[in-house]
Amino acid sequence: MPMITFILPDGTRHPLTYDEDDPSVMHVGVRANLAHLPADCGGQLACATCMVDVAPDWQAKVGPAGPDEADMLSDALGEVPPGRRLSCQIVLDARLDGLVVTLPAKQG
Ligand code: FES
Repeated sequence: MPMITFILPDGTRHPLTYDEDDPSVMHVGVRANLAHLPADCGGQLACATCMVDVAPDWQAKVGPAGPDEADMLSDALGEVPPGRRLSCQIVLDARLDGLVVTLPAKQG
């Protein structure tokens, strides 16, 4: 099965499998009850509490934030670090097998 590795702020790595029933990166992390991923709005692009930092090697494949997502990140952070995305907006497919994301210590 395809896999995503979530890295917690303390460096702990959580490799998690996903399938076609998981619509987004956020859903995989929430299903595993990962700390630092409250995802308060359940993926409705309304909370900015599902932020991840996409590993540099994966940023081109994952792509940039869309306009609404980028606005939400700017509102939450001001300066948005490279690779920062809302994980509920990263749609999963087989191309993302092996993806690595880091959860920031502080969500929006
Ligand atoms: S879960 Fe709320 S914006 Fe992603």
